[in-house]
Amino acid sequence: MKKLYVKTYGCQMNVYDSDRMADTLAVEGYEATGTLEDADLILLNTCHIREKAAEKVYSELGRIRKLKAARALEGKETMVGVAGCVAQAEGAEILRRAPVVDLVVGPSSYHHLPELIAKARDKRGAIETEFPIEDKFEHLPAASREKTIARGVTAFLTVQEGCDKFCTFCVVPYTRGSEVSRPVAQLIDEAKRLVDAGVREVTLLGQNVNAYHGAGPDGTDWTLGRLLHRLAEIPGLDRLRYTTSHPRDMDDALLAAHRDLPQLMPYLHLPIQAGADRVLAAMNRKHTRADYLALIERIRAARPDIAMSGDFIVGFPGETEAEFAETLAVVDEVGYASAYSFKYSARPGTPASAEADQIADAVKSERLQRLQERIDAQARAFNRSRVGMTFDVLFEKPGKRAGQLVGRSPWLQPVHVMAPSQLIGEIAAVVIDDIGTNSLFGTLIEPVTESRVAMSGGKR
Ligand code: SAH
Ligand code: SF4
Ligand code: F3S
Repeated sequence: MKKLYVKTYGCQMNVYDSDRMADTLAVEGYEATGTLEDADLILLNTCHIREKAAEKVYSELGRIRKLKAARALEGKETMVGVAGCVAQAEGAEILRRAPVVDLVVGPSSYHHLPELIAKARDKRGAIETEFPIEDKFEHLPAASREKTIARGVTAFLTVQEGCDKFCTFCVVPYTRGSEVSRPVAQLIDEAKRLVDAGVREVTLLGQNVNAYHGAGPDGTDWTLGRLLHRLAEIPGLDRLRYTTSHPRDMDDALLAAHRDLPQLMPYLHLPIQAGADRVLAAMNRKHTRADYLALIERIRAARPDIAMSGDFIVGFPGETEAEFAETLAVVDEVGYASAYSFKYSARPGTPASAEADQIADAVKSERLQRLQERIDAQARAFNRSRVGMTFDVLFEKPGKRAGQLVGRSPWLQPVHVMAPSQLIGEIAAVVIDDIGTNSLFGTLIEPVTESRVAMSGGKR
């Protein structure tokens, strides 16, 4: 059997895609390996969102070049493919810059991988970066259709791809193309198969997941809110999440889902990016600071225990100190359970990269540090606020210490608990005793008896 090594960079959609590529190639006789040196086929599933992310790929390709040469001395062939958003953005340029690469495949063409590999075997330099008319999802999980390979208790499910928003800093509309939503029936089918394979929690993915508008079985387009209601009816699918959302697409149906569905976890990633209205307008976000804050108030009214997460960019072209202070003020006002923050990175081809008033790196670094300090303090406060609380934890895997398991709280925090391994894949009530740097420590509130494990295990 040939061996496949996939390295994934970037967002969760790449994680989902990497698994689908592995599923597709499993049918072609490739077995996944975690050891780069053993691989007959190496795929780098790349990210183009910031300059650093894109550059990582080339340094990895440098390492792979040496490895390929060493394997060639032993008479072993190694094929190297670049997939993902760098592949889409740079195409043939990758083959020029990194001669070690045999094939380049964009995110919309993974179902063509077997043909591309065959082509590259004949002649180096197979490329596919079209946005084909046919639906890659229709063709991709062919392998998993017969036998879904569950990779754990939680799973991602891409429901929507691409973006029509064109924020002026962002490459995603170019690398992932325009918004496409998968049909409801296809998603229900995939979710059911995941549950049959032991999955208890599904996170719906999309670059703009709440812009979802997939064809429903009744002939109308369904919203994300309606899809969530339907998914919540699947027995054994105990937890639902979705990411990433745009503030413009939080509609009433989605707020109703947060209010009405106990399966929908009380945690929402809703990026604002910056606090000042001038900057938001220059980013083409199409919402103001006041819109965002009012929206959060409505979300909290629908689901009072919801925890907020977000993304921030510091040092967008022309950002003044006073404007940056407005970003800090938004953080104070919202109170995030967690948030990601980035230095603005000029991306080729995006409108903001052509602005004259780019901010010096030292200024960006200093702002980033101040923002991160504030976010970290909030995250710690949020974690601390859980101490003494009792809530359900979904156990995912063994912990670092013997006898310990790690699970997730409803708010996505890792929770370490002394618990029997039969509880992996189960939900149990835990009281929180203490906090770690980025996690919680708790105790099972009732001793687990054999019969209880058997009972809940037999539920599915
Ligand atoms: N679709 C999602 C985000 C996708 S990219 C959304 O609209 O929220 C993930 C995050 O990367 C973005 O939220 C943004 O904060 C950050 N990002 C995107 N482009 C960037 C750039 N050019 N420089 C720095 N950060 C960027
Ligand atoms: Fe990028 Fe904006 Fe689209 Fe998000 S909404 S993917 S930040 S263009
Ligand atoms: Fe990166 Fe592409 Fe995701 S640029 S963040 S891998 S959509």
